[in-house]
Amino acid sequence: MVFTATIQSRSDLGSSLAIRVGRSEGFWSCQPGQFYLLRTGAAWSPYGRRALFPTLIDPNELGFLLAPSNDPGLAWLAAQPAGTALDLIGPQGRGFMLHEHQRRILLMAEASAVAPLFALIPPALARQASITLLLHGRRRADLLPAAALPPAVEYYTACDDPLPGQPTTLDDAFVSALNWADGLYLAGSAEFLRQAKAVVTEARFAVTSGFAQAVAPVALPCGVGACMACLVDSGRGRHRACVRGPVFDLGELAL
Ligand code: FES
Repeated sequence: MVFTATIQSRSDLGSSLAIRVGRSEGFWSCQPGQFYLLRTGAAWSPYGRRALFPTLIDPNELGFLLAPSNDPGLAWLAAQPAGTALDLIGPQGRGFMLHEHQRRILLMAEASAVAPLFALIPPALARQASITLLLHGRRRADLLPAAALPPAVEYYTACDDPLPGQPTTLDDAFVSALNWADGLYLAGSAEFLRQAKAVVTEARFAVTSGFAQAVAPVALPCGVGACMACLVDSGRGRHRACVRGPVFDLGELAL
């Protein structure tokens, strides 16, 4: 579905920019892990959209997080003031399945990819679930400030340029949290997911279906199944992440 939404607000969130867009008809059909294709340029400029995952899904408002980037399209988006009308297509793809029985939710991401996990927090809290978020940033500045999260979320971080006493990896926190969690949700690079899958396999002897879901670590250039640039290997075939995903069961992803 193509529609127009207006930038309602802009605010800094660590080194990222958080924007909220509003629409009187609402965004009722979007699920965490689905994405929108936002036109990133004036209407008369050549076609250019970027796939963005909402961080906030509200009846009348969507939130997006724009991490620092050299991408000219995202730079254009980040420069637009409140009141700008944006052109969106979506929601696209298949999002996360928040299973009914899950009450101890573990989220783990690289800071640049955390957006789709952010949107899982409100529905999980609404089910009285306990939530832990583990976040790794290349730079300390890339980590989300704790104030950006609801107080009920346990939040642990690691980064490559830590302050004295802070960890550089999430390894210990991840192994410990795996003993507690009954649902795992991941977003990050292929290497990040590969390492997470290895740790889950060792800790739980297998990646059982339904326990862990991950956002496929691929770009979504067209987002509508046309360009074949988002193929992911499930070990039993290759699938377009923008159509069959972008969220997959972790056990399904051949990383
Ligand atoms: S992004 Fe083009 S086919 Fe999936």
